Formats: sequence, structure tokens, C-alpha cells
Amino acid sequence: MPSTGATAIANANIAFIKYWGNRDEKLRLPSNASLSMTLAGLETETTVEFNDGWQRDEVFIGGEAQTGAARERVVAQLEVVRARAALGLRARVSSRNNFPSGTGIASSASAFAALTLAAAAAAGLSLPEPELSALARQGSGSAARSVPGGFVEWVMGEEGKPETSLAYTIAPPEYWDLTDVIAVVSQNPKSVGSTSGHALAKTSPLQAARVATVPERLARCREAVLSRDFARLADIVELDSNLMHAVMMTSMPPLIYWEPITIAIMKSVRRWRSEGLPVCFTIDAGPNVHCLCAAEVAAEVHRRLHDNLDVKRVLVAGPGGPARLRS
Ligand code: PMV
Repeated sequence: MPSTGATAIANANIAFIKYWGNRDEKLRLPSNASLSMTLAGLETETTVEFNDGWQRDEVFIGGEAQTGAARERVVAQLEVVRARAALGLRARVSSRNNFPSGTGIASSASAFAALTLAAAAAAGLSLPEPELSALARQGSGSAARSVPGGFVEWVMGEEGKPETSLAYTIAPPEYWDLTDVIAVVSQNPKSVGSTSGHALAKTSPLQAARVATVPERLARCREAVLSRDFARLADIVELDSNLMHAVMMTSMPPLIYWEPITIAIMKSVRRWRSEGLPVCFTIDAGPNVHCLCAAEVAAEVHRRLHDNLDVKRVLVAGPGGPARLRS
């Protein structure tokens, strides 16, 4: 095998029930199960080539050669795939996002899902989706959920069997035309990334209570999705996001990802819902606010964010498909 390559595309995802904290940091085995929607059109496209003449793995993100920790993390994931394929060749990885990275829009999810699929295909592997999801998880936990499409659940998996912690589709993208209207309030990279954040979760006295009550929220969230019940979904999604941020804020040292505009949007979204607009908020490890709403009110939510709250940059995404190879 002198030289082989493959290109894969994966979508970002937004969690309705959040993943925060690991029971095994290295394998990225989560402290709790989570549930998300894969986001159409917010993509990472990654090409992986293996060549027997190369001495070293090279990593380019957005056209720029990576060094240090960013490169190491990609190389570690290449190792995961090389071990699975029993392959020793060095690789060249080239990756591009069509949305801003490091802002609380889960770029690591789409990035490690696309990397894992492209590397596996370039290594000559054709893996079933559950196995790809479990492999992608080792690069970034939430990447497990960017392998399948639509509405997705990531299970904790059995003790001693890391390969069973994977994500699968509970409803296809066309099941419910929910829309994520994302208020991008900052494009600066976040100061504390989620890998360090997960490690801090256990320092919060609230984490144990959050984790203990996930199964009940997850069941309610799954039921709300499967019955397309927006009012029920809204309450549970906001509660779960607030619980994760309560853990973040009470970690040692505390992580405060919100900006004043984040809180202004949260309050407005709750007021709009009380006035009859079907919209709710959820926030990841950054200040941007994901406003989930029925597709028919997405334009109105977008307009209000822009006109009432002066949000200049808004991204809109419906439910997306699974990670795929470019033919
Ligand atoms: O996959 P990571 O390590 O970037 O963790 C993502 C964590 C959150 O986005 C904050 C929550 C989630 O479930 O996506």
C-alpha cells in the first residue's frame, strides 16, 4: 500500500441532554449518557492520506500546519485508527470547518467524526456505524454523536467494555423539523476547552446530583423528541443546560462561559416562549446561545435576535444526516 486517501464530511451536533465529565478521561467514557441533534450544513471536511514514504504525521487545519497540542490530539486519534487497522504508515491530514471553531459550536465533534471516518476509509477499513462512533468518541466525546444522523443518543456503555459506549440514531432527520438558530456572540477561541473542563467536573459539589438525575431527564427528553412535543422538550432542554452550567460555575477553578449578552438572550427566549413563540435555549462550553425552535418560527427568532438583541451573526441549522465519505 504505497499511498491511499479518503475524504469524509461530518456535521456538528447540539446536545439536548449534555455530556459533562468522564468516568475515564483517556478513553473518554462519559459520566452520563446524552442526547443530541446532528446539525445539517455545519460541517467539517477532512482528507486523510497514508503514504509509506512519509516519516511523520502532518496536520493542516484551515490550511495551517499544526504543531503542539492541536497536532498531538489528531495524531493520537490516527493511532486509534492505525491500531484498529494494524497499519504503520504516517499520514497527512487536512481539515476545514465551514463554521467558526472554538466558540461553543462543537467543532471538535464534527472534526473527530470526519477524521475517524476518513482515516478508517484511507486505511482500508469499512466499519459499521456503531464501531465508528465508539472510535470517534476517543478523539472527542461528542464526536461519537456526530457519526449518526438525526436525533441521536450516546449510551454510557458497559463497565470494562469501552467499545459499547457509542451513539446511534433514535429518529431520522426528517422525523421532526426542529431548527437550531445559533446566536454567535463571540468568535474568540474559548479560554478553557472542554477536555480540561470535563476533568474539572468532579470538583463541583453539584456534579454528583446532576449525573444522578440524568437518566430521568434523558427519558423525558427522548419521549419529547419521539412525540414531537415542543413544550415538553423546551423545559427539559433548558433545565439540563442550566444544570451543566451550574456544575461549570461551581468547579474549582470555576468555569464561566457566559457573557452578558448570553444572559440577555436566555431571558428574552424565555419571555418569547411565555408569549407563545415555540423557542428554547441551550448553551455549550462557550457564550453562544443555541435557540431551538419549530422550523416555521426560525425566521422570526432570527429577526428578533438581530433587531432586539443586536446579534450580528446567526447560523441556522436543521437536523442533519450521518458522517459520510466523499465519493
Ligand atoms: O466532546 P467535547 O469534549 O468537546 O465535549 C462537549 C461538551 C458539551 O458541548 C459542553 C456538551 C455536549 O454534550 O455536547
